[in-house]
Amino acid sequence: MTGTPSPKRLHIKTFGCQMNVYDSERMADVLAPLGYVASERPEDADLVILNTCHIREKAAEKVYSDLGRLKEMRAEREAAGGGRMAIAVAGCVAQAEGAEILHRQPAVDLVVGPQAYQQLPDLIARIGGAKGERIASDFAAEAKFDALPKARAIHGPTAFLTVQEGCDKFCTFCVVPYTRGAEYSRPVAKIVEEAERLADQGVREVTLLGQNVNAYEGEGPDVGVWSLARLIRRLAKIEGLDRIRYTTSHPRDMGDDLIAAHGEVAALMPYLHLPVQSGSDRVLKAMNRAHTAQSYLDLIARIRAARPDIAISGDFIVGFPGETEADFEATLDLVRQVRHASAFSFKYSRRPGTPAAGMADQVDEEVKSERLARLQALLVEQQQAFNASTLGRTVPILFERAGREPGQIVGRSPYLQGVWCEGPSRLIGQIAEVELTMVGTNALAGRLVEALA
Ligand code: SAH
Ligand code: SF4
Ligand code: F3S
Repeated sequence: MTGTPSPKRLHIKTFGCQMNVYDSERMADVLAPLGYVASERPEDADLVILNTCHIREKAAEKVYSDLGRLKEMRAEREAAGGGRMAIAVAGCVAQAEGAEILHRQPAVDLVVGPQAYQQLPDLIARIGGAKGERIASDFAAEAKFDALPKARAIHGPTAFLTVQEGCDKFCTFCVVPYTRGAEYSRPVAKIVEEAERLADQGVREVTLLGQNVNAYEGEGPDVGVWSLARLIRRLAKIEGLDRIRYTTSHPRDMGDDLIAAHGEVAALMPYLHLPVQSGSDRVLKAMNRAHTAQSYLDLIARIRAARPDIAISGDFIVGFPGETEADFEATLDLVRQVRHASAFSFKYSRRPGTPAAGMADQVDEEVKSERLARLQALLVEQQQAFNASTLGRTVPILFERAGREPGQIVGRSPYLQGVWCEGPSRLIGQIAEVELTMVGTNALAGRLVEALA
């Protein structure tokens, strides 16, 4: 007899990039058949999973302070007569630090790396067992994707879909090649199947994910491998899937066919996250980025020729070892030329095991902070200028949820701007035309032009 398992509560806290967001959803899908249902509060959960990020020191260290707090929470819960709370560490810290986590915080019940989530039910069964039995950190992206359940719970009209994992680029500052392993692309047929299911469930927009998503080279349904551009053209044919995005891309892998797709595929949104990291060729070389400031600017010019209104986003690191004031000025100069719609910028963080960690001329923290502030001021100015340039335009908004005030609904423009307006809640999950009327600090306000697309 197969009974329904008794309900257990699951709380997942996600750090880091969108790939972790996707993975957290998939962990919940793996655990659903065991009776786990989502819990908003960790206090109420029978299983808490921290899905962690190792990219910068701060992110990695935060995990241990969270674990300390969870340990206390568990003690209080048990003292109050509640059931036992299991604590799991997943994600990139799990992969990078493995057994060390159980050592540093013995309250942790299990450690599971990003390619091993299909093993979660087995690991849970082994809670209380020997340390070695409570760690899974194999590198087999293929096995992971094949073993994940086909059914996905959806959360509104947008969804992430991982198409590629890992990285072979070895930028000298970055831990990702070590935490996520070698580049692996999922076969086209599997991705199409997952996207069709999402569309059937009411998803209108998918964001294709990969550490180097534009390096996608997936086994095609016929002979040979497909590029990301070809995959996007295929996905654009799925009924109901009106919007396609992808992230994150490396300038080196921005092929002509992908650039052309930006001009030709209506469903491909005019937004591109294309991290450049620095505007100094000397620093770019030391970072092992395989592009120069000028080759990046030329690339942006070609992309804008294909899609003139495209919103460009990027990532920047300030204070990479050896970065001089002149190098930093070169970054500001590049930013001025690119005119970003949005961007993320970080102080260089020394990561154990990466080549840059051992480089001479590490930059002082105060210098990094001062440069970051100057860069961010310029980027904020550019973001505001971009938003202001869209004022008065009427654009399709995909509404995702209710707004803060009653009667308001919130969604995103093609350029990924957050937009709110007065409108009926029946529009949530739908695309409707909105005239952009006001720029706020974090979002734009608009006026509904037509009720339904
Ligand atoms: N695959 C993506 C980025 C992955 S990490 C790419 O190649 O662009 C996301 C961002 O974190 C990077 O773009 C970089 O700007 C930043 N980052 C990575 N390692 C870092 C470090 N050691 N210190 C500071 N920022 C870092
Ligand atoms: Fe890290 Fe570079 Fe790979 Fe991006 S391309 S994940 S920054 S090593
Ligand atoms: Fe962080 Fe891992 Fe993503 S290190 S940025 S969670 S790939």
